[in-house]
Formats: sequence, C-alpha cells, structure tokens
Amino acid sequence: MEDIPTELTRVYTFLLLFTFLTRPIAATTTAAQELLKGFTATPDSSIASFQPLLSDSVGNYSLGFLRVDQTQLALAVIHVPSHEQLWVAGKDLLARWSSQTRLSFNGSLVISDARTGVLWSSHTDGDRVRLSNTSNLLIETVGDGSLIIWQSFDFPYHTLMENQNFTSVMTLVSSNGLYSMKLGPDFIGFYARFVANSDLGLLYFQHNPMEAKAQVIKGQGPIRTVLSPDGFLGMYQNGTAPVDVQPFSSFQQPGTGNRRVRLEPDGNLIGYYWARSSWLVDFKQVSDPCDLPSSCGPYGMCQRGKGCSCLDNRTSYTSGRCDPEAIRASGDDLCRKKHKVLRRIGVELPNKEIMAYTIMSSLEKCERACEEKCTCWGAVYSNTSGFCYTIEYPIQTLVEVLDDSKVGYFKVREGAGKDSTQTGLWVGLGLLCGLISLILVIGGVILYKKESRGVKGYVEEEGVNGGVGPYKNLGSSSFKSIELSER
Ligand SMILES: *[C@@H]1O[C@H](CO)[C@@H](O)[C@H](O)[C@H]1NC(C)=O
Ligand SMILES: *[C@@H]1O[C@H](CO)[C@@H](O)[C@H](O)[C@H]1NC(C)=O
Ligand SMILES: *[C@@H]1O[C@H](CO)[C@@H](O)[C@H](O)[C@H]1NC(C)=O
Ligand SMILES: *[C@@H]1O[C@H](CO)[C@@H](O)[C@H](O)[C@H]1NC(C)=O
Ligand SMILES: *[C@@H]1O[C@H](CO)[C@@H](O)[C@H](O)[C@H]1NC(C)=O
Ligand SMILES: *[C@@H]1O[C@H](CO)[C@@H](O)[C@H](O)[C@H]1NC(C)=O
Ligand SMILES: *[C@@H]1O[C@H](CO)[C@@H](O)[C@H](O)[C@H]1NC(C)=O
Repeated sequence: MEDIPTELTRVYTFLLLFTFLTRPIAATTTAAQELLKGFTATPDSSIASFQPLLSDSVGNYSLGFLRVDQTQLALAVIHVPSHEQLWVAGKDLLARWSSQTRLSFNGSLVISDARTGVLWSSHTDGDRVRLSNTSNLLIETVGDGSLIIWQSFDFPYHTLMENQNFTSVMTLVSSNGLYSMKLGPDFIGFYARFVANSDLGLLYFQHNPMEAKAQVIKGQGPIRTVLSPDGFLGMYQNGTAPVDVQPFSSFQQPGTGNRRVRLEPDGNLIGYYWARSSWLVDFKQVSDPCDLPSSCGPYGMCQRGKGCSCLDNRTSYTSGRCDPEAIRASGDDLCRKKHKVLRRIGVELPNKEIMAYTIMSSLEKCERACEEKCTCWGAVYSNTSGFCYTIEYPIQTLVEVLDDSKVGYFKVREGAGKDSTQTGLWVGLGLLCGLISLILVIGGVILYKKESRGVKGYVEEEGVNGGVGPYKNLGSSSFKSIELSER
C-alpha cells in the first residue's frame, strides 16, 4: 500500500521537473547566443506570445518577436522567467505578425515588411549581434578584440537596467505613452502628456539631487543617472562621486544583475528586485500616490492616506473612475463644445510647488481668466495667498486639503454626440463604442437587478472601499529607501 503514494510522488516530481525544465530549454535551444551576417527570421504563425531569436549566455533574457494585440509584432527584449518586457525596437513601432515581416542582420539589424519596406534599422555596419547578461542588445565588430558599435541601452524604452547610463539625450516613456522621464540640467523631470499635441508635456514631479558627496556645477557638462548594482539610483556629473544617491530597500545587499527601474503607466518610477521567482518592489520615486498627477483618474480626488473619491461629490468612485468620457482632447474643444461648471472647496493640485501660477486678487478673477480661455479646463485658487493655478489640460486628479480657502473651478464637458464638426470616422467609432457600452450597461443593469435586492447602500459602500484598496497599499507602505536616506 505504501508504494502508491511514493509512486505518485515520483510521477509528480517527474512532471514538475519536466515542466520546469522544458521552458528554459525550449528558450535556449531555439534561440542562438549570437546572430551573424546573413541571419533572417520571420514570425511563426503558431506562436501565441513570444518567439525567441537570441538569448544571453545564461538564458535570463531573450530578444524576439513579441505578439501585440494578436496581429501585431514588436521586436523586444524580455526577461525570460517573468516575461517582463524590457526594451523594444523603435518606441512606437509595430509591424504585422505575418510572413511578410522579416528581421535580418546584414551589419544592421533591420525590420522590414515586404509590402512597405524597411520599418526600423540600427543603421550600423557590424559583424555580430549579442545580448549581454544585463539585457543590453549589442552590435559589435570583430577585429582585434570586439568593439561595441551600437547598444540598445542607448535607446531605452520604459526600463533601465543595472549600469545602464541614462543621459540627457534620452527619454523613458511609460507603456501607455502618457508619461515620460527626462533629465534637466540638474534634476530628474517627470512629464505628463494630457494634451495630445504637447511635446514633452507638463512637468509634474521633479527630483533634485542631495549633493552630499559632490555638487552639480554649471557648465561642467550634463548629468546622467545610473542604476547601481549596489542598489541605488545614482546621479553623476562628470566625476565618479555621485551628486545624488537614492537608496533602494535592498541597498548594499548583494545581488548583482537583479535590479531594474521602470516608468509605470501611472507616472511613477518604480525599482524592482528579482527574488528568484518574482520581482519585488524595491523603490518608489513618488511615495505618496496623491503626488502623482492622475492617481484617481480624470476628475478624481485623492485623499491622503485614504484613497480616491470624485471631484463631483454626487458621483461615487465605485466604478474606479469619475469621468465617463475619454480624457484626451485637443485644446480648442472647450470653445466648440458645451460645458458645465463644477466647483469644489478644499482642493489643490498635486505638486503645486512646481506648477505655474499667477497672483489674482479674487476667486472671481481667477475663474474668469479660465472661463474665457478655450484651452483652460479649470482653475484652483487659494484665497489666502492669491495664487491662481490655471489647468491647461483635461482635469486629472486633485488632492483634498482641509482648507476651505482653496477652491477649484472645473469645466465638465457635456455629453458626447453633440459635435457635428467631427469626421465620419469618429462618428462611426463613437457609435460603435456607444453600442458596446449600451450592451454592457443593459447587461450590468440586469446583473445589478439580480444581485442587489435591498442591499443598495451596502453595495455602494463596499465599492468605495474596493476603490481604496490599491491606493491604501501604495500609501501606507513607508519605504525603507526613505528611512535610509533620512538616517
Ligand atoms: C542592410 O539592409 C538594409 C535594408 O535592406 C539596407 O538599407 C542597408 O544598406 C544594408 N546594409 C548593409 C551594410 O549592407
Ligand atoms: C556608462 O558611462 C560610463 C562613464 O561614461 C562608461 O564608463 C560606461 O561604459 C557606460 N556604460 C554603458 C553600459 O554604456
Ligand atoms: C567635467 O567636464 C568639464 C567639461 O566637459 C571639464 O572642464 C571639467 O574639468 C570636468 N570635471 C571633472 C571633475 O572631471
Ligand atoms: C555579466 O558578465 C560580466 C562580464 O561580461 C561579468 O563580469 C558579470 O559578473 C556578469 N554578471 C552576471 C550577473 O552574471
Ligand atoms: C539569471 O540567471 C541566474 C542563473 O540561472 C539566476 O540565478 C538569476 O537569478 C537570474 N537573474 C535574473 C534577473 O533573472
Ligand atoms: C456637495 O458639494 C456642494 C458644494 O461644494 C455642497 O453644497 C453639498 O452639500 C455637497 N453635497 C454632499 C452630498 O456632500
Ligand atoms: C476670502 O478672503 C476674503 C478676504 O480675506 C474673505 O472676506 C472671504 O470670506 C474669503 N473667502 C473664502 C471662501 O474663504
């Protein structure tokens, strides 16, 4: 009788080993460790997510075709065990997942489409392509010793790896394209593009160096930022002493090759540590989510230490958002479109310290300045200081303050579908979206009616608490990094 469990265990262990082993083996056997001149590859129609083409020496990272939205393709570097995407060729570039698309190496790495021609090229004349053990894609010439002539680390996407130099000519962009990070002359700047045609966008957060060990000296060249294998984000000018150190939770713990930072879709810069099977959060540039520009979404209100609600106190945050309309709009929308006005007492802009303002003698004057301006979506006025902040982008999240002298004035667009100047395409898209939402709404109503007999109030409160959840996590965790830097 004792045989059966042991037999089962053996089978089970074998299956476990089998599944554990096959995945990395599949990745390393199908992917080469270098690509030479003459290499070509086309996407395989049977692959659902990632087709590896090139691997680093230990198999932690892989370059390959990544399937995007079923039919499209990006040339990407991923971290194999977690499938995290670390780099893509050409930030916005998407090719077709079709036999017409080809990656080749003829000295340059080239993505081409048989119909439309070259889509992306490294514009190099190298001899081979390699992937370093920190995920840097390298093109080298092989003469007397190899020479790196091109590296993907010079063209970052949203992620920085250890020892990757982030310089003033580079930009990190969040995966949703809304946020970017760029170095100023003596600071790290974080920008939001809430208006489609604005170039870098609104500066919403700025990190200035501590200058404990060295100072930024004007005229001594640009600064750069590097993620150190010792667990900190350092800022340097041209010396070896950092002008700034932002320590991570894992500061000075051994673990070379285990860290990365990424600009997230909410605009925060997060550091991660690879703990053998998953990435742990190691650092947050912005520690309080209320300091992010849109932590509760458009027309949301962030309550420090509590969570989200809506600027319009008649709307509850149950659905996870306050504004049912699309947020991105061109600047002149508000003059052609009708809008209502919403006022809220006790609000201020996140990071108002770095926002531009003018001094006005009264709330009425501040409001009028915005009312008359087509590109203005709102204004926040402080009765005590006279500061008038005008908001030149669709309203995002404001921060609740227990100060009734701070008043917000916001334009709210009235229902879509009244605008006849839009092209047929948008009308068509609108109708389609409308139809889908109608179906969803009807479905929702039916479900709601089925599930909420006599417990309406309760359901609502549950929902509000549900909305608080993720922010509670962000808000309450005090980071070791901060404790460390305060010591
Ligand atoms: C490689 O191929 C591309 C695209 O076909 C071409 O533009 C480029 O000149 C070639 N480079 C070399 C070094 O042959
Ligand atoms: C980063 O910059 C330093 C100093 O300029 C240089 O020594 C190092 O090789 C660079 N690293 C990478 C990966 O480019
Ligand atoms: C930094 O670079 C500037 C010009 O590029 C040079 O004048 C200066 O001496 C350098 N400083 C150090 C500490 O290397
Ligand atoms: C990566 O490779 C370099 C040499 O190219 C080596 O010094 C380093 O220890 C390696 N790091 C890891 C994490 O394997
Ligand atoms: C890289 O591979 C080594 C050996 O398999 C492993 O110990 C290490 O955790 C991996 N690092 C990352 C970041 O995946
Ligand atoms: C909502 O806000 C308005 C104006 O700020 C106030 O008059 C009203 O009492 C508030 N309603 C609720 C339900 O809190
Ligand atoms: C604003 O300040 C003026 C004068 O200081 C005062 O009379 C008025 O009541 C204040 N209004 C608010 C909303 O606090």
